[in-house]
Amino acid sequence: MATIVSVINQKGGVGKSTISFNLDAGVRKQNNNKKNLLIDLDSQCSITMTSKANMTLPTIYDVLRKEITIEQVIQDTNDTNIIPGSQNLVELDKVLSETGKEYRLKESLEKIKDKYEYIIIDTPPTLSVASINALTASDYILIPTMADTYSAAGIGQLYQTFLAVKKYCNEKIQITGIVVNRFNPQTTLAKQMLTMVEDIAKQIDTTVFDTKLRDYTAIKEAQASRINIFDYSPTHNAVDDYTNFVNEFLKKINK
Ligand SMILES: Nc1ncnc2c1ncn2[C@@H]1O[C@H](COP(=O)(O)OP(=O)(O)O)[C@@H](O)[C@H]1O
Ligand SMILES: [Mg+2]
Repeated sequence: MATIVSVINQKGGVGKSTISFNLDAGVRKQNNNKKNLLIDLDSQCSITMTSKANMTLPTIYDVLRKEITIEQVIQDTNDTNIIPGSQNLVELDKVLSETGKEYRLKESLEKIKDKYEYIIIDTPPTLSVASINALTASDYILIPTMADTYSAAGIGQLYQTFLAVKKYCNEKIQITGIVVNRFNPQTTLAKQMLTMVEDIAKQIDTTVFDTKLRDYTAIKEAQASRINIFDYSPTHNAVDDYTNFVNEFLKKINK
């Protein structure tokens, strides 16, 4: 039975898509390549592009609208499995209005979740019906942030949404922690900001991952080549970071 994880923060540019994509690869490497599934719930379709999915085929948008079954939209990319996103996801709040709309993803995943070890959901930079669907379907959330004031500021609001979903839609959901991304240990500002992120973590009753994902050009280069960082540059420091992060993640969820 798959463990379902949403990578979520309504702030854009903090690394949700990069982390979703590389977390999938890292977890598979630690897990003898057992099958995972990535789901792209963002209209920007970052991980759909990075995983070289065919973007002309039906998407998660069609599944959420009940126009097609979830089995029909899963693409095997040779590397992993992905359900592509769609630009139409920006319309989702308008087109989904029926009672139970928060449960659409959860209901669809019930049918396929025994086929995968991990299902990792990349979410949009909004607290919308798509993110509520992600939270309702998930066992865990992972919150990426950068060590700056603006990125961390929205976490309180995300927590309120998390608590509402926990109360009304998904009692069992838990937070794995906050992971600091694009970290630059050289600057004193970054160190001060870490203290701030630690405080926020305490306020929302979680912890900050010990591993900080440092800022490396190789991460962007790997993305441009549409390859995960582990395969792109196996001996790079960025791979050490991601390996430590994945190990910490797996320990936290105890699987
Ligand atoms: N560790 C990192 N080092 C350098 N650049 C990074 C790192 N993580 C993410 N990025 C870059 O930061 C930008 C935003 O990341 P992205 O994953 O798209 O964020 P989000 O999905 O939260 O909007 C992208 O250009 C990505 O390549
Ligand atoms: Mg993204």
